[in-house]
Amino acid sequence: MAKLPVISLSKNTASKSDTIAIILPEDLKLSPLARQIDPSGQLKRAISVSKFTGKIASSLEVIAPTNGADKIILVGCGEPAKASESDWLKIGGKIFAAAGKATKISVLTQSATKKNAISAEAVALMAAGAKLRAYKFDDYMTKPDKDGAQKKMSFGADDLAGTRKEWQRLSGVSDGVLLARQLVNEPANVLDPVEFAKRAQGLKSLGVEVQVLGEPEMKKLGMDALLGVSLGSVKPPRMAIMQWRGGKKGDKPVAFVGKGVVFDTGGISIKPAGGMEDMKGDMGGAAAVTGLMHALASRKAKTNVVGIIGLVENMPDGKAQRPGDIVTSMSGQTIEVINTDAEGRLVLADALWYCQKRFKPKFMVNLATLTGAILVALGNHHAGVFSNNDELADNLFKAGQLTDEKVWRLPLGEEYDKLIDSKNADMKNVGGRFAGSITAGQFLQRFVNDVPWAHLDVAGTAMGSPKNAYNQSWGSGFGVRLLDRLVADFYE
Ligand code: BES
Ligand code: ZN
Ligand code: MG
Repeated sequence: MAKLPVISLSKNTASKSDTIAIILPEDLKLSPLARQIDPSGQLKRAISVSKFTGKIASSLEVIAPTNGADKIILVGCGEPAKASESDWLKIGGKIFAAAGKATKISVLTQSATKKNAISAEAVALMAAGAKLRAYKFDDYMTKPDKDGAQKKMSFGADDLAGTRKEWQRLSGVSDGVLLARQLVNEPANVLDPVEFAKRAQGLKSLGVEVQVLGEPEMKKLGMDALLGVSLGSVKPPRMAIMQWRGGKKGDKPVAFVGKGVVFDTGGISIKPAGGMEDMKGDMGGAAAVTGLMHALASRKAKTNVVGIIGLVENMPDGKAQRPGDIVTSMSGQTIEVINTDAEGRLVLADALWYCQKRFKPKFMVNLATLTGAILVALGNHHAGVFSNNDELADNLFKAGQLTDEKVWRLPLGEEYDKLIDSKNADMKNVGGRFAGSITAGQFLQRFVNDVPWAHLDVAGTAMGSPKNAYNQSWGSGFGVRLLDRLVADFYE
C-alpha cells in the first residue's frame, strides 16, 4: 500500500511547512491568519489576477511566496455550510494532490466570517479525503515511486477538541474503505478464500468476533448451492462470520452479507478472455462487508452487527459443476444450474439463509458484483438496489445521497419471479435475456422469507468506477461509507 500521509491535528497556526494550504470560501475573504502569513498582499494579488473562484475543490498555487514556505495552495470550499460530505473529501484529496512532492504540509481552515466557519466534521473529512486520495495499489511494484515520500499533514482547526472526536470516527471509517479497496485490488493468486478469511480474522484486534467455516462445516449445514460453485477450484471455500456487539445484549443485530467470488472465470460456462482479469474483483461485496465491519468496530458503533461473507473460486475443471446440474440449497429448495456463470446468487442463497436462521436479524443487506446487466442499466454511478421493504430502501437512498455512494431502486415482482421457475427443479439460476439484474434479485428473494432485506448490485461501482479527487484506485471500496452512514443515521 502506498505511503499514507501521517495526519496530525492542531489549532489553526502558521507553523513552518514547505507547503501551506489555505481553505477559502467563494467570498474569497482571507482570514486574519492568512493575512498574517501574507503581509505583503501577494495572495490577494494572485487571487485577483487569476481565475480562481473559490468553488469547491478549485485551487490556485502560489509559488515561493515571501514568508518562507515553498508554496501556498488556495483550495476553494464554496459556501462551507452547503458543502456535502463528499465535497469535503474532495477538498482534502485536492490538497494532497496539489501538494505534489512537498512532504510537510499545513492546512489552515480559519475563516474570515462566522457565516463561513468550517466545522469540526469538515476538517476531519478533509483529513480523511487526503488519506483516501493517497491510497495506491502498488504493493507489487518493485521499483519505488519517485513521488512516494511520505507526507506529514497537519490540519488546523478552530474547534480542536471537536475535530479530534470527528477524526477518531472518520479515520476508522477511511481505514475500512482502504481495507475494502485493497481486498478488491489483490490478485486471486494471493487472495484466495483461505487468505480472505485470514484477513477477516485480522478484525479480531478491533474487538470483532470472527468465526470461519470450512468445507466440512458447510457440507454439514447443507450449503450445496455455495459448495457447487467451488467444485472446480483447488482452493477450498470458506465462510467468515464477523460479529460486532456494540449494542445492548440481546438486541437483534443488523446483518450484511457479501458475495466473495475471489475469481469468476464463469466456470464451465466460461467467460471470454477479454477483460477476464477484472473478475479478481468479483468479491467486491465481501470486501465492502469486511471494510464496513472494520469501520463500525473502530468507531465503536453502538449497535449489534453481523457480517457474513461467502468465499469461493469459480473455475472450470473435471470436477466442476455442469450446466443442467441440480443442487439442493441449505433452505431445502432445489436449483437447476443453467449457467455456471450465474454463480454469485448460488453463493448468496446459502449465505442469506444461514444469516436469517442463525441471527434473526432486524434486516439483511447483501452486496454483490452480481450482474453485468446492472452496468448496462446504471453504469458506474449508481448501485442497483432491490428490496422487499420500502423503509430500508428509502434509508439506503438517503445514505447514498449523503455519502455520494448512490443507489437507485429497481423493481421486483411476481411477473419477474416466474421467469426463474424451472421444469426440472424449484428454480433455475438464470431467467433469460431480459431484466437480468431483476431476475437475479428475484432469485435472492427466494432465500430471505419476510426479513426486511435489500440487495445491492455493485458490479458497476465496486471496481473500475471513474477516478475522482479522493479515489484513484480501481477497487473503490464502494459500500463502506454508504452502510456506515446507514447504520449511524438509522440504526444506532
Ligand atoms: N461476476 C459476474 C457479474 C459481473 C459482470 C461483475 C461484470 C462485474 C462486472 C457474474 O457472476 C456473472 O457472470 N453474471 C452473469 C449472469 C448471467 C449468466 C445470467 C452476467 O452478468 O453475464
Ligand atoms: Zn461472479
Ligand atoms: Mg459469473
